[in-house]
This record gives sequence, C-alpha cells and structure tokens, in this order.
Amino acid sequence: MKKLANSSVELHPLIAQRWSPRSFDGAAELSVPDLTALIEAARWAPSSNNSQPWRFVIARRGDVHFAKLVDTMAGFNKLWAPKASALVFVLANTTNDDGTPRVAALYDAGLAASLLTVEAAHRGLVVHQIGGFDQAQAMSDFDLPATLTPVVILAIGKQAPAEALEDATLLEREIAERVRKPLDDLIVGGSL
Ligand SMILES: Cc1cc2nc3c(=O)[nH]c(=O)nc-3n(C[C@H](O)[C@H](O)[C@H](O)COP(=O)(O)O)c2cc1C
Repeated sequence: MKKLANSSVELHPLIAQRWSPRSFDGAAELSVPDLTALIEAARWAPSSNNSQPWRFVIARRGDVHFAKLVDTMAGFNKLWAPKASALVFVLANTTNDDGTPRVAALYDAGLAASLLTVEAAHRGLVVHQIGGFDQAQAMSDFDLPATLTPVVILAIGKQAPAEALEDATLLEREIAERVRKPLDDLIVGGSL
C-alpha cells in the first residue's frame, strides 16, 4: 500500500513515498549489506561538534536481542513489530567526557535515524519508529550504561499488504489517510 505525501510542491520520491507501515513481511530477511548501509547512513549524519552520540543495538528476527526488544514493547507495538526483519534500538550518549550534559545528543540521534530511514527507502525497505517501549527494561536487559539515553526502536523490513494485519485496529490505522498540520501553521516567523 502506498501513501504518498500530499505536499504543496513535488518532493523527492524517497521523501514523498516514505511512511510508517505496520504490516511487515514476516519471512523477509535483511541482508548484511542492507543493514550495514542503514547504519552507515546514520553514521554519516551531521552532529553537534561532530560528537556522533548515536549508538545502536542491532537485533534480527529470531535472535535473542530481537525477542528482548519485543518484550519491552507496549500495547499494539507487540502485535505488529515481531514481523519486522530487524529492530534497531537507538540510544544517544547524552553526557560529554567532562560530565556535562550533551544537550544536542537527542537531536543528533534523530538526525541519524532520519538518514537511516531515507537510505532504507532507497533500498526498498520500510522503517517504523517505536517510542512505545519500556525504556528502563531495555536499558537493564542490554546492561547499558547510564551515560546512554534510550531514544527509539526502529522496526525495519519489507512491507506486506495491509490486509495481512489480522487485528482490526491495526488494519484501520494502516489504511488511514496520512495527515499533517497545514504548512502555514508551522511558520512562526517570516514567510515562504
Ligand atoms: C519518536 C517516535 C515514536 C513513535 N512511536 C510509535 C509507536 O510506539 N508505535 C507506533 O505504531 N508508531 C510510532 N511512531 C510512528 C508515528 O506514529 C508516525 O511516524 C506518524 O504517525 C506519522 O506517520 P508517517 O510516518 O506514516 O508519516 C513513532 C514515531 C516517532 C518519530
């Protein structure tokens, strides 16, 4: 299913066509070159002072990391995410070497995730971001240090038909129109 962005001017197809499906092909595997390219795309994101604060836990469907991450997920996420080919748990190092807060770290990690998403679209893959998970559980399960802050889990894989979703609510969300605030509402100074 396609859900093209209804933009006022034409956008690059990688941006216009990207959306966050929940129907994943539960048989599709993510190749090592594809997964490597996604993390490379993230690695080459800009960051404050080139601090590169992003860190990743990589999980493939069927491995122990994957099961642990699914177990942290809340509500509906637990229903659809298990069919993703891979889950990437994104973290940010939010503390500078001198112990002061690295204030742009979450922003930087978001930029990295964003570039990963574009590279995924280029490779015919889809990414669905998941904020609904137990962050404390994930940090403890992977024995991660307090210098890292959990950001998001990325569900990555091949899209499947909407009708493959068995849950009625998930199907409804899958076929719902994508909505955005009007462009004018976003401009709080100056004009286009
Ligand atoms: C930080 C973040 C957390 C999100 N958490 C969830 C989530 O827990 N479950 C979910 O189904 N979608 C989640 N989403 C997906 C958003 O709902 C989705 O990106 C938004 O509705 C826009 O839809 P689109 O990506 O298809 O354009 C999350 C997105 C982001 C950026």
